[in-house]
Amino acid sequence: MVGKVYLVGAGPGDPDLLTMKAHRLIRSATVIVLDRLVSDDIRFMFPASARVIDVGKSASNHTLPQEEINQLLVDLARAGHDVLRLKGGDPFVFGRGGEEALVLAASGIPFDVVPGITSAQGCAASLRVPLTHRGIATGLRFVTGHLKGDEALELDWPGLADPATTLVVYMGLSSIGGIAARLVVEGRDPATPVLAVTRATHADERHLLTSLRNVAQDAARARLGSPALFIVGEVAGLAAVLQAAGVGFEEMLDAAE
Ligand SMILES: C[S@@+](CC[C@H](N)C(=O)[O-])C[C@H]1O[C@@H](n2cnc3c(N)ncnc32)[C@H](O)[C@@H]1O
Repeated sequence: MVGKVYLVGAGPGDPDLLTMKAHRLIRSATVIVLDRLVSDDIRFMFPASARVIDVGKSASNHTLPQEEINQLLVDLARAGHDVLRLKGGDPFVFGRGGEEALVLAASGIPFDVVPGITSAQGCAASLRVPLTHRGIATGLRFVTGHLKGDEALELDWPGLADPATTLVVYMGLSSIGGIAARLVVEGRDPATPVLAVTRATHADERHLLTSLRNVAQDAARARLGSPALFIVGEVAGLAAVLQAAGVGFEEMLDAAE
């Protein structure tokens, strides 16, 4: 009997943000293949009897190449195991879940997809910042800031420069300076507010409010670590209003001038 693979989103970290379906699958799992971004609080929920295969042990040297992860899922299912493939955030938002789904489909392995709260939503909710807001932001774009070697980021720069678009940059810790500079060149106001958030919804979450003009230096000065996400746009400025209402910022550097 071939097993089934469940591609499941674990959300941004806080176990309370798991879907009920994800929670049920975690509690009954026998084989779990998981990524680095799955939080410790969620790992503590795994059944003691489950076989746990960590394919993203550290960013440095233990991460299994994607092709090997795909093959592992196929092999486990062919060996008759139902597999919980657990990923941070949502499996289909910069999670390479689509690649795994394609390989499973091509291999005739049955699979289900369980969405998770993507980190953009986790960050926004944690900071009480709406990602769209009538009169301020009519659209929302999720982009990757991940650079492959020396390659330039190929993004829709004119579209991203639209002041009515909220822009969320995933994997942008090392590229945010270049992204901010390019957005300004394309016409986005350098005073546009930017929220940088690390480890959103974890107990040690950190965040700062800055501007496109200052984000690179402020992020470096604050020594922001990984994982980090940037919310760019006028909605980010609402964070200052919410702070004035007593909603908790642990750290805030100079906001847009
Ligand atoms: C490979 S992508 C995975 C995204 C994930 N599938 C999702 O839907 O959130 C990794 C990036 O997600 C963002 N990220 C994930 N979890 C985060 C968190 N708790 N706080 C801030 N950013 C996070 C960071 O930009 C990180 O570099």
